[in-house]
Amino acid sequence: AAGASFSARLLGWYDRHHRDLPWRLTPDRAARGEMADPYRVWLSEVMLQQTTVPAVKPYFARFTEQWPTVTALAGAEADEIMKAWAGLGYYSRARNLKACADAVALHHGGRFPETATGLRALPGIGDYTAAAIAAIAFGQRETVVDGNVERVMTRHRAIAAPMPAAKAAVKALLGPDVPDDRPGDFAQAMMDLGATICTPRRPACVLCPLRDDCAVLMRGEDPEAYPVKAA
Ligand code: ADE
Repeated sequence: AAGASFSARLLGWYDRHHRDLPWRLTPDRAARGEMADPYRVWLSEVMLQQTTVPAVKPYFARFTEQWPTVTALAGAEADEIMKAWAGLGYYSRARNLKACADAVALHHGGRFPETATGLRALPGIGDYTAAAIAAIAFGQRETVVDGNVERVMTRHRAIAAPMPAAKAAVKALLGPDVPDDRPGDFAQAMMDLGATICTPRRPACVLCPLRDDCAVLMRGEDPEAYPVKAA
């Protein structure tokens, strides 16, 4: 709707066009106010760090079938986990997965910490992953910035600073728009928008819920010029 806030337009679009992904709640469960399972959110975010959604899906299905909880994963042998991870690449992620599961099981009673700061202290969890789990699984008002979010925001605000320096500006400009009530949906809506509409090449601007105040479009610039790459 004209004049609706950034987050209202984004979430309205997400409600209609979100991707159905196995680590997300089904819409009926979300409507009942349930939160996504932190274990599944953590596992999916680690797998998605250097791997695409289609490549992750079968691995995510096998892992959650074999190890339905973080405590079950902590009980697995390291070489079983490495074997299940084979093909996903970046094997330090699998080693950290085991170390993190052990830490949650041994030091946190099998429950993930609920804040980004608490999550950040776990093995293999960096700023991005901590913010993503805190927002998506625990409803914390964290600003989640990945490559998709960087692309959407550098275009929407015409941020000309080159990456990676622009990341701080992206986070600062996006932060005030993160809503209190649906920070996890807001983060995932930004990711889905970047993955399906505000794509690296030939973005589908006519379908974008944020087009009315997109700075790059208002200036008549080419969205593909953003994010600006470091020289
Ligand atoms: N990429 C990384 N995390 C994601 C998520 N939660 N949803 C969609 N794409 C993602």
